[in-house]
Amino acid sequence: MRVLVIHGPNLNLLGEREPEVYGDQTLPQIDAQIAQLAKELKLDVRAVQHNSEGAIVDELHAARASYDAVILNPGAYTHYAYAIADAIAAIGIPVFEVHLSNVSAREPFRRISVVAPVCAGAISGFGVHSYLLALRAAAR
Ligand code: DQA
Repeated sequence: MRVLVIHGPNLNLLGEREPEVYGDQTLPQIDAQIAQLAKELKLDVRAVQHNSEGAIVDELHAARASYDAVILNPGAYTHYAYAIADAIAAIGIPVFEVHLSNVSAREPFRRISVVAPVCAGAISGFGVHSYLLALRAAAR
């Protein structure tokens, strides 16, 4: 089973970006934990990070040919990017929405997810464990 992990905008700055909100782990450290769990679950996982909306749309389109599931942290695009929501609806493979922080407990604009209605499910608020729980869910 092949799983694609897509990290959205500003997540390349994890470790230095608002550590009180997002923790002090860097993206490579998070990817290493994802890779470790993937090995245990015998999943073939690739992780990518994009800051631009179009690159995420392109990545989702390409995923439909070669992946069984996608784990997506759309960053701030979560809250307004209808092009990403349309891409998820178009590709026909399950997409798991994840967030490091608990978006429901933050500013009002973060409580809205335009991708949630087209995702298989969402996990929010558990730091790196949001990704790890999504990976376990994808494996099932
Ligand atoms: C985030 C939450 C978003 O609201 C924010 O814009 C991010 C990260 C999270 O992982 O908690 O960039 O998706």
